[in-house]
Amino acid sequence: MEGKDLKAARTRVRELRGEIADHNYRYYVLDDPTVTDAAFDRLMKELAALEQRFPELATPDSPTMRVGGVVKEGFARISHRRPLLSLANAFDEGEIRDFDRRVREGLPGEDVRYVVEQKIDGLAVNLTYEDGTLVRGATRGDGETGEDITANLRTVHTVPLKLTQSVPLLEVRGEVYMPKRAFSALNEAQEEAGGRPFANPRNAAAGSLRQLDPAVTASRRLGLFCYAVGYADGRPSTQHAVLEWLTGLGFTVTPGHRLCSSLDEVIAYCLEMAEKRFDLPYAIDGMVVKVDGLDQQERLAATAKSPRWAVAYKFPAVEAVTRVEDIIVRVGRTGVLTPTAVLEPVELAGSTVSRATLHNEDYIREKDIRIGDLVRVHKAGEVIPEVVEVLPDRRRGSEKEFAMPRTCPDCGSPVSRTEGEVAVRCASLACPARLREGLIHFVSRGAMDIRGLGPAVLNQLLEAGLVHDVSDLYALQKEDLLGLERLADKSADNLLAAIDGSRRNPLHRLLFALGIRYVGAGAARVLADHFGSLDAVAAASPEELTAIPEIGPRIAEGIDDFFAGEQNRAVLARLRERGVNMTGERTVEGLPLAGRVFVLTGGLTSISRDEAGELIAARGGKVSSSVGKSTSYVVVGENAGSKLAKAEKLVREGAALRIIGEEDFLALVSGAGTD
Ligand code: IVH
Repeated sequence: MEGKDLKAARTRVRELRGEIADHNYRYYVLDDPTVTDAAFDRLMKELAALEQRFPELATPDSPTMRVGGVVKEGFARISHRRPLLSLANAFDEGEIRDFDRRVREGLPGEDVRYVVEQKIDGLAVNLTYEDGTLVRGATRGDGETGEDITANLRTVHTVPLKLTQSVPLLEVRGEVYMPKRAFSALNEAQEEAGGRPFANPRNAAAGSLRQLDPAVTASRRLGLFCYAVGYADGRPSTQHAVLEWLTGLGFTVTPGHRLCSSLDEVIAYCLEMAEKRFDLPYAIDGMVVKVDGLDQQERLAATAKSPRWAVAYKFPAVEAVTRVEDIIVRVGRTGVLTPTAVLEPVELAGSTVSRATLHNEDYIREKDIRIGDLVRVHKAGEVIPEVVEVLPDRRRGSEKEFAMPRTCPDCGSPVSRTEGEVAVRCASLACPARLREGLIHFVSRGAMDIRGLGPAVLNQLLEAGLVHDVSDLYALQKEDLLGLERLADKSADNLLAAIDGSRRNPLHRLLFALGIRYVGAGAARVLADHFGSLDAVAAASPEELTAIPEIGPRIAEGIDDFFAGEQNRAVLARLRERGVNMTGERTVEGLPLAGRVFVLTGGLTSISRDEAGELIAARGGKVSSSVGKSTSYVVVGENAGSKLAKAEKLVREGAALRIIGEEDFLALVSGAGTD
């Protein structure tokens, strides 16, 4: 008989997985999220906590399995069973008609229908499923051989880990992409950290997928749209039926695909989408026209490079010409100065554009952009307005060259440029612009998560001289808040309660909130987990820091610099005095094997005991030497002895413990898992 708690948990787990799947669909496909990121995180946490308490409810296809764990040395090469071809291009209506003519010559007298799909601007991948379970994911590579990025692909929310039905062998092709809103956010963060922004969502998706640490991939919001079957035991006979079949198996296929029975319909749809693409939540760079009949496709076959049964209609580049009226400079949280072009407003790809990012001083120099220049602008990834080039022939002689200021435009302190970096920074920690941006970051959702403390209230606190650094937030009194505009009695109480609540935040939140250079949310977790207190992090030498696999020399330097700063140390002392938590339990919260206890018995053949232990620990689990009530898994190797017997006895007595072999164990730690 199943216990009452377990039964209730099973129901709730099912509900949560359903809700999470719904929210993912709304975020990735509809671009219409109905919950905040924080609310979504809460659902994920609740699910992780239940799976931790009831390990038997954890399944390899649970969304909690998508957090990414072990860092790899490099990617293994994988030969594709069938090559991944590329497509021939058509740049206008005439070229689509040429394609149709060639198709009909190849299929004389036959009825030809086409499926028209969006051409997603991302990275092609090939996913292999055995008996309905994802076993491998690879990049396209050169078409013949790609790279094994299975661990990273598992972190992509719309990649099904398990299909709704079991197909013996299935290879699916699709495009991993980054939604426009995620692309903008990532680029902003890149610039803030002094790094180079990605030119388009395609590069951003590729860069995110080829991370050696799957946790980094997991932190980037990527999606997958599938568009073809590479290999399947039994599949439908037309492309449109293939897309429906894939949908039924749990894949998200290219949205808005249309079956057209005439060429005019094909062309009308391509032209329609050339206009409508700006409203989509992800970038597409054209439309793909495919012959619908799969046997027709086979008969038409392929040339050396591309199939004769499909063509990519590429949208014309959308650009506009306008004038640079001025170049202004903004100071961010880490003190980075970002130049921005103020443009004469112009219509571009569905909106009026009056600003374009110029990224950094090198970018301006490379393109020789001057104030007064006529420039060609486009939207990188259809989102971020950017200057493509200057029209030098249209210069009038009165254009002015831009020079990066030598002092901070906000506080007048000297600025400096670190060697090897493109960014110029304001050196003063007391810079009001830095302070303001730093406070916004400190209270933000991923950091200390203080609700009700938005930029408007922060601005007022700064202007009133009530806040000079983050520690002052914890000294605020109700009278201070009541003096602010539009802050009623009740809101003041709520705000004080939210500030107070943040005192008890786990250590990793504080570490991230402090805005230490290069310490993102992921690194903050690793540090909190490893050192357990802020003091221990501060005391760590660069060697100790870089001995941690996830911490590189740049992060170590960022930490060293931060704690060396006298002003920073003073702020930390005040935070401590004002009751902000600076210690933490070792947090494994959110890791897929958090709370699971493993016992290894017998000899493992493919890895050593130590390696197995490391794999478990990296995913949040623990290894114990004896089998008992708290054991979740007993991993049985060759010649297992008394521990196996004890485990079998406990199972007979109804314990939730699972006995698994080496292969299942490896699948579990790599995420494929056993159920
Ligand atoms: S079909 C043999 N459909 O475009 C043809 N490709 O140059 C296989 N792509 O490498 C491709 N969206 O990465 C197809 N709906 C779609 C696509 C699509 C994007 C990419 C794919 C491929 C490239 C072709």
